[in-house]
Amino acid sequence: MQLFDVYPLLDIEPVSALGCTVTDAQGVRYLDLYGGHAVISIGHGHPHYVARMEQQLRKIGFYSNSVQNSLQKELAHKLGILSGYPDYALFLCNSGAEANENAFKLAAYKTGKSKILAFSKAFHGRTAGAVACSDKPSIRSPFCFPDDSVCFLPFEDSEAVEKELKSGDYAAVIIEGIQGVGGIVTPSAAFMQTLHRLCNQYQVPLILDEIQSGYGRTGAFFAHQHYGIEADLITVAKGMGNGFPVGGVLISPDFTPRHGQLGTTFGGNHLACAAALAVLEVMEQESLITNAQKIGDYLFEQLSGVSKGISGLRGKGLMIGFESGPEYPGLRNDLIYKEHCFTGASGSNTIRLLPPLCLTMAEAKQFMTSLNHIINE
Ligand SMILES: Cc1ncc(COP(=O)(O)O)c(C=O)c1O
Repeated sequence: MQLFDVYPLLDIEPVSALGCTVTDAQGVRYLDLYGGHAVISIGHGHPHYVARMEQQLRKIGFYSNSVQNSLQKELAHKLGILSGYPDYALFLCNSGAEANENAFKLAAYKTGKSKILAFSKAFHGRTAGAVACSDKPSIRSPFCFPDDSVCFLPFEDSEAVEKELKSGDYAAVIIEGIQGVGGIVTPSAAFMQTLHRLCNQYQVPLILDEIQSGYGRTGAFFAHQHYGIEADLITVAKGMGNGFPVGGVLISPDFTPRHGQLGTTFGGNHLACAAALAVLEVMEQESLITNAQKIGDYLFEQLSGVSKGISGLRGKGLMIGFESGPEYPGLRNDLIYKEHCFTGASGSNTIRLLPPLCLTMAEAKQFMTSLNHIINE
């Protein structure tokens, strides 16, 4: 059997990794400013993470959601405290798209409505509901929600948002804390505050997709906390398990659970909880949110001083985007193949920096040396 060929692949095979370094099958070491697509949060192979996972696997790796699992309760408690949402409830699942699907369901159950308001350039995942709310027609199959079930509006158009919400048709509004796949696009605090107010006014649940921008990446636990707002439902995945598949929905106390309303076979299994707990423990012990802010500020300052080759610098903490100029069409590939430095991409010329939150100052400097080297070559 062959693999179903849906991914354009880099010609590199990572075989081991530690901290922010990935080593390939030929023994070449790469500085990782991509984190396997914003997934590696506390660093590759963190000793505490490895030990906790190993110990858990020796005890019990999985049992179904029909029995008591105190690790789930421990995780919900710790996540509530560290994220600033101690009175919310947690539903555990396996991926980002699945977290969004469950958030849509909860909102629809609560309101009795079915329409979703989303935003231009949004990406919320590949499953039916999530892809319908992603502003990327090329990834939608004919098996999809009807076109009029999702309305896309541009950021900053509060009037249009109000006009839609007034209609009384909406189950939810979904927005990313900072758009990732869309190319690191940050809504203004004023727009987010208005959106929050309008959702409250028209009683439409606000879903914050923090799958990429959450878990400390931007220098706050959630990106929306920079705007001084709260959400009704918050979706998480990626950095939550540092590579182990785990996702979740943080649910406001306004939602009342009912048995059978949501469910999953694998979600919240023992190993996933051990991974997610290890991530939170390391984030806390090593002050990784503060580090993301500090190193992110340094990178931002250094990048804004680069006088040619890049433009449109944006982002917060360790979620940074910029465009490579037309004279450097292969900047990402040059960084990878010549300087041995992984970064993310978006579209044809946007570079995304999404490194592990433990990136050191020395590693940030190493990246700047590599970038300047290519630009000035
Ligand atoms: C903002 C956002 N939401 C949802 C998803 C989907 O997550 P997953 O691939 O785990 O389903 C992604 C993945 O890139 C994302 O960036």
